[in-house]
Amino acid sequence: MKDVIEELERRRSIAALGGGKHRIEAQHKRGKLTARERIELLMDENSFEEFDMYVEHRCTDFGMEKNKIPGDGVVTGWGTINGRVVYIFAKDFTVFGGSLSETHAQKITKIQDMALRNRAPIIGLFDAGGARIQEGVAALGGYGEVFLRNVLASGVVPQISVIMGPCAGGDVYSPAMTDFIFMVKDTSYMFVTGPDVVKTVTNEEVTAEELGGSEVHTTKSSIADNAYENDVECLLQMRRLMDFLPSNNRSGVPVLKTKDDPEREEASLDTLIPDNPNKPYDMKELIVKVADEGDFFEIQESFAQNIIVGFGRMNGYPIGFVANQPMFLAGVLDSDASRKAARFVRFCDCFSIPVVTFVDVPGFLPGTAQEYGGLIKHGAKLLFAFSEATVPKVTVITRKAYGGAYDVMSSKHIRGDVNYAWPSAEIAVMGPKGAAEILYREDRGDAEKLAQRIAEYEARFANPFIAAERGYIDEVIKPRATRGRICRSLNMLRDKTVENPWKKHDNIPL
Ligand code: HXC
Repeated sequence: MKDVIEELERRRSIAALGGGKHRIEAQHKRGKLTARERIELLMDENSFEEFDMYVEHRCTDFGMEKNKIPGDGVVTGWGTINGRVVYIFAKDFTVFGGSLSETHAQKITKIQDMALRNRAPIIGLFDAGGARIQEGVAALGGYGEVFLRNVLASGVVPQISVIMGPCAGGDVYSPAMTDFIFMVKDTSYMFVTGPDVVKTVTNEEVTAEELGGSEVHTTKSSIADNAYENDVECLLQMRRLMDFLPSNNRSGVPVLKTKDDPEREEASLDTLIPDNPNKPYDMKELIVKVADEGDFFEIQESFAQNIIVGFGRMNGYPIGFVANQPMFLAGVLDSDASRKAARFVRFCDCFSIPVVTFVDVPGFLPGTAQEYGGLIKHGAKLLFAFSEATVPKVTVITRKAYGGAYDVMSSKHIRGDVNYAWPSAEIAVMGPKGAAEILYREDRGDAEKLAQRIAEYEARFANPFIAAERGYIDEVIKPRATRGRICRSLNMLRDKTVENPWKKHDNIPL
């Protein structure tokens, strides 16, 4: 027995070395951790159970039969994060650049199947060059199997992708079909084809960072949801994120006990709105002041900053916050902001996370750039997402709610459950100046008369009461009481049951 145990230990230690000491050192020199080091940081101590550590590829082309490494470039298994089961696969860049072979794919699909069958989240740590070139179509077939499972699991269990090295081909397409993508600054890249292929095909010279670095994907393409300074910070943030997410679409959200009084008043909110309606203020201050212990996990912090989305907790329960941000473009809705928020609202709805919406929106952004870019379709995405969502929806209008954007931002008309307004709310078709200039075109040349018309319009519409008189606003609340009101509403809505008409699936304007 001693011999076989020793043999087991020997085989385990060979597998643990992956591509060997040399390549592990190279990985560390690049500022990256190895696959197993990453898993150790991400999972609870000693909770990780590895599967398929002895799997090897079966390729016999290009001399590959002489080059086999146990594990075949991916570490798979399951463990816990803060006590909750999570499935994981981590690409091992030290083994054939983490590239995917037929057997490597089988390891991943085994874990994907287990995650779906056992209804627990799955996290992929990516550091890999796509399909293993030596395997050809066997590798492509393997990716097809992974992609299919990404789609089948979508909306059933949360799927998180973390990009921790150079990633190409299938190693960016699979993440693209998951719920969230996070990157590490300076060491991770995502592109369908790398700089060399770009140069060959288009003659364009571009560095990996310029083509698919974290800066590009968090600010321009919006492919990535956030980027972190290094592997350690990134993985610790993933642990934090998982605490907000349910295990699956039927499990209910994870509730954490909080010492933060749900009725806590925040007197400083009474002066958050500036006297001048055109002066910005920081909507994040409101989110942080109402959320439990000021804890807010922002998603896509650097993209479309005119809208804020992210997770927090109210009275211990996870919440998705959506809020216009007056600090950027006056909080206007444009194509990017609409797409960003729509995807977030749909994630929350998939996983029964209630949505709290803070509204201060001057409307949709006018102009040819937006119209040519498809603002109508992109804006419709957000309208669609809020309308179809059946989770509890609580909305607070803090200041402007103008035009179509009023309807879009989780209004009563699209099944907002509880719709509050602060006394500073202005709910109208447009701002007083624009309205007066259209209604009283003849007074345009007369500054004094126009000012009077603007004042008249302001007096009539620049308040929440016309909407409240119609029941579109359930109550006008004091800013300081916002947290208490939302907590109570969410408590009242805990067992909300609404079903959309039967359909195979809807047809959101993509
Ligand atoms: C086999 C690969 C590989 C691959 C990298 N390696 N990618 N082996 N198949 N796809 C190997 C390298 O040969 C090298 O082996 C080791 O991994 C490290 O790679 P380097 O090139 O030295 O590292 P680096 O300079 O950091 O560049 C990383 C990289 C680059 C950007 C990922 O390797 C690269 O461009 N690879 C090819 C990417 C690609 O086009 N993949 C196919 C995508 S098609 P040694 O032994 O020298 O250490 C695809 C289809 C899916 O995925 C379907 C999509 C819809």
